[in-house]
Amino acid sequence: MITVIGATGNVGRPLVAGLVARGARPRILTRDPGRARLVPGAETVIGDLDAPRCADALLAGADAAFVVTAGPDAAAHDRKIAAAVARHGVRRVVKVTSVAALPPVHDSYGAAHAAAEDAYLATGAHCTFLRPAAFMSNTLQWSWSVTGSSTVFQPFGDLPQAVVDPADVAEVALRVLDAPGAGGCAYTVTGPESLTPRQRAQRLAAALGRSLTFVDAPPEQARRAMTDVGLPPAYVDGLLASQSDPDPARGALPLPTVRDLTGHPPRTFTAWLAAHVDLFR
Ligand SMILES: NC(=O)c1ccc[n+]([C@@H]2O[C@H](COP(=O)([O-])OP(=O)(O)OC[C@H]3O[C@@H](n4cnc5c(N)ncnc54)[C@H](OP(=O)(O)O)[C@@H]3O)[C@@H](O)[C@H]2O)c1
Repeated sequence: MITVIGATGNVGRPLVAGLVARGARPRILTRDPGRARLVPGAETVIGDLDAPRCADALLAGADAAFVVTAGPDAAAHDRKIAAAVARHGVRRVVKVTSVAALPPVHDSYGAAHAAAEDAYLATGAHCTFLRPAAFMSNTLQWSWSVTGSSTVFQPFGDLPQAVVDPADVAEVALRVLDAPGAGGCAYTVTGPESLTPRQRAQRLAAALGRSLTFVDAPPEQARRAMTDVGLPPAYVDGLLASQSDPDPARGALPLPTVRDLTGHPPRTFTAWLAAHVDLFR
């Protein structure tokens, strides 16, 4: 049995759908099944990783775990999950981290992901780490200003990323889980082409059939927008440091990982836009 943590998110949802389509009945976690638009066919555990026994309830009896943690409490959640992986003798772990975890780490966001990788390795489980570039789905953060004022506000507008469709990250995870003995290493997972935020906004404008104004937002403005919604300043600083990292090895260069593991080329940003453009109208 496989436990999926982060099952209702950008990567977890297509992963669960893929597992169910293969005939598996994964055990999945959500805090709020009413909001989660759950994929039918899974065993649902309602819980919060902040709660002390949550990770044990999820991992008791599991052979494998797929793990996404998110947000400022992710590091604490990873420590709890890793401890439960060790306690329950879970044999395989596939964990989504980030290109920011590539050594040597440059910022606190990457350091948190690298520490999570170390915590899972210390459990003795067979571990595979997927280190994705920025997700295409981050584009949804523009929907409010695009629908309201045809404007995209984004810092670091000229720093390229080979943005990846989370569905491809999920499919890479499925291929690793499908083959016993596969993985046991870290994969950097990218999309097929390197695009700056400004170029992605131009693609979005083309998909919408109207012009958009791109504002290369000062990092301080982006920082304020995130702290104003309650994110801890230290977490926001790490996130922005990671987003401003010019090292091309951290997601700017398209890599063959998706093609090598899935047998098909990575999904394009244009295809992602075609599937989601109505959310920007
Ligand atoms: N966005 C990017 O560009 C990017 C790039 C590289 C790596 N990453 C990494 O990818 C991860 C995010 O993946 P994602 O986008 O698939 O996640 P997501 O869409 O933000 O989903 C978060 C998931 O975590 C669950 N969750 C959050 N807090 C929880 C809690 N306290 N207890 C239980 N479950 C909780 C949510 O479940 P419920 O809400 O249903 O409870 C949901 O399933 C992060 O580690 C991030 O650093 C992101």
